Amino acid sequence: MNQATIGNDPEEAARRLRAGEVVALPTETVYGLAGNALDAQVVLNIFRIKGRPSFDPLIVHCKDQEDAFRYATRIPSAAFRLAEKFWPGPLTLVLKSPGIIPDVVTAGLGTVALRVPSHPLFRKVLDLITFPLAAPSANPFGYVSPTSARHVADQLGAKIGYILDGGPCQHGMESTIVGFERGSPVILRLGAIPAGQIRDLYPKTQIRVLASSNPKAPGQLHQHYAPSKRVMWLAEAPASLLRDKSTAFLAFGPQEGKEYAGTCFNLSPAGDYHEAARNFYRVLREFDAGPWQTLIVQPFPALDNGLSETLNDRLMRVTASRNS
Ligand code: TXA
Ligand code: MG
Repeated sequence: MNQATIGNDPEEAARRLRAGEVVALPTETVYGLAGNALDAQVVLNIFRIKGRPSFDPLIVHCKDQEDAFRYATRIPSAAFRLAEKFWPGPLTLVLKSPGIIPDVVTAGLGTVALRVPSHPLFRKVLDLITFPLAAPSANPFGYVSPTSARHVADQLGAKIGYILDGGPCQHGMESTIVGFERGSPVILRLGAIPAGQIRDLYPKTQIRVLASSNPKAPGQLHQHYAPSKRVMWLAEAPASLLRDKSTAFLAFGPQEGKEYAGTCFNLSPAGDYHEAARNFYRVLREFDAGPWQTLIVQPFPALDNGLSETLNDRLMRVTASRNS
């Protein structure tokens, strides 16, 4: 297949989706690889293009709360409250499925992950079609998520026909995924909505994001979102590494007095977590494409209940051994 067209025409994206094609769409979190969530053949194509194992279910993207909740049943009141507060936006709710959404989307778990995105172009596309969109992040499985149309084109451009370009993503981190246990929220994936904002509403909200052999959010594999080159987690970098030209550093906040022989990618010189989140995946891609052999990362200071938990979760997955 030829390289995908990169365009900014939601009508064209909608036409292709109606015809059963898989297209890349911008969301406020990361770019998605979207297709008709009600058509099992289309969904199988998404899995094939992404190289994703079939046990890892997809998020279903809907126009609004009413549309989303048509695909769920026995919805706890906390889900209504969270939807009211955070939709449209980077929140995904895992709810009981009455089976309208095909098993290929939900991995037959009996639940369905639902989200109402806020990106204006994505919403425009949803307005032009009559079905919800299944969409994982538009990257090969396990690799760094895409936050621009160019990122999608670089890796999946030969496998799809159209990429709708909505500019760089506003959040740059995936949606926060929330499930429910006996009506109480449980965070299954840390994401663009800080855990603290969920806890402001539900102080007892638990965070359960670590992978196990039978994970509740099966995509939460230990090693994920990762560049292909070596990334090392070091609380304090030894001077020898600072002098090594083949080593790059991922920094956050002011770096006065520090000298790097290789390079220093500063996610936010001002120490702003939102800016750091927005830059995170782009910088990992730049490292991967550049001349450095190793990237040294340090934990983000947990100064507030902002995005530090989300960013540290991603650092943990990026640095986890490929063999674990
Ligand atoms: O921000 C986002 O959520 C982006 C944009 C494109 O919307 N999408 C995204 O999708 O990150 P993906 O496929 O890369 O990650 C979806 C995650 C996976 O970890 C998957 O296991 C989990 O959602 N998931 C989907 N359905 C689930 C379910 N029924 N129960 C638990 N986890 C589920
Ligand atoms: Mg993903």
